[in-house]
Amino acid sequence: MAEQAQFTPLKNDLLLRAARGEKVERVPVWVMRQAGRYLPEYHEAKGSKDFFECCRNAEVASTITLQPIERFTGLIDAAIIFSDILVIPQAMGMECIMLDKKGPHFPNPLRSPDDQQYKDIMARDVDVKKELDYVYEAITVTRRKLEGRVPLIGFCGAPWTLLCYMIEGGGSKIFKEVKTWIFKYGDAAKEMLQKIAELCVEYLALQVVAGAQLVQIFDSWAGELSPSSFKQFALPYLVYICDNLPNRLRELKQEVVPMTVFAKGAWYALEDLCKTNYNVIGLDWLHDPAQAYEIAQKYGKTLQGNADPGVLYGSRESITAVVEEMTAGFGGGKQGWIANLGHGITPFVNPDDLKFYFEEIHRCTSR
Ligand code: CP3
Repeated sequence: MAEQAQFTPLKNDLLLRAARGEKVERVPVWVMRQAGRYLPEYHEAKGSKDFFECCRNAEVASTITLQPIERFTGLIDAAIIFSDILVIPQAMGMECIMLDKKGPHFPNPLRSPDDQQYKDIMARDVDVKKELDYVYEAITVTRRKLEGRVPLIGFCGAPWTLLCYMIEGGGSKIFKEVKTWIFKYGDAAKEMLQKIAELCVEYLALQVVAGAQLVQIFDSWAGELSPSSFKQFALPYLVYICDNLPNRLRELKQEVVPMTVFAKGAWYALEDLCKTNYNVIGLDWLHDPAQAYEIAQKYGKTLQGNADPGVLYGSRESITAVVEEMTAGFGGGKQGWIANLGHGITPFVNPDDLKFYFEEIHRCTSR
């Protein structure tokens, strides 16, 4: 990936224009985790391969990325590269495997700042260009296969969320280990968060070089923090990323792409996030659209979200009601809104119900 690849010009740039706050003729829509387990074709493409093996195979990863674009032709306004947030801890030298039906698992999580493992990781110079080369390749191959149909989103995990996984070793209910860190070894936690933030900037910049046209930072565990802890352990590192990525892109002679932050559960931080340099603030379904929209409009920010993904288990009437209410809340969809769900689509959703959700967004927001 020495030189920047040339790609077909975009035919649908609604997402990028909405992200920049421009008026759009229709609200763009996509959903988090749109390439995944609810799609039968995902299981077919994955076969018996391991999850991370699929991420490392550009042909498979690009095929899976394109599946929702092909199934929902004309209804969906973005692709998001098939990968995972946990590739950064892997690049840092930590082993992480995906257990079937259980999710990610780190056999040797970080235990304490006195451990050699913590010292080794802090001392290591991580080469995200080399270690995550397969992601950039998957992005470039996907951009080619997209042929300008819709923009391609690149992403990474936020430092706080990645630290949670690196310390907890997987998902958690009570976050005992990472809470021990922030309340006992706060300085060591912050050093690691800073290191991760720097890697995120370089990783996202290289995704843009490879062809990503917007980037999203997932802070999926933000809601485990109190407002005060969020200000100490999450926000500064989210800010570091949005303040440094544009500079890094200019150094690499790249266009500065729009940036989205999704801090799940951190409803109290909406105004703080609006004050950052992110273009788009992702919302989960704990937000009232009208209230959030009023705040975001003051700062000229675009919002993304936010239906409860659970509505897709419900009736068509419920989907319609949720879409209508959401559209009205987000100012009727003229400006400053990218439609999505409030979190990733869940397994067992019938893809036809997602299709109906997309159709309802189109019906309610076209002019
Ligand atoms: O379509 C897309 O959105 C792109 C692909 C994508 C995946 N993971 C694929 C995936 C994205 C953007 C992610 C991000 C991700 N990964 C997040 C942030 C988003 C969020 O949900 O909050 C997080 C927390 C992870 C970590 C992770 N990866 C978990 C907790 C799990 C297991 C639980 C689950 O929801 O599946 C994964 C596995 C994973 N990542 C799958 C997919 C399609 C399922 C793997 C499988 O069983 O086949």
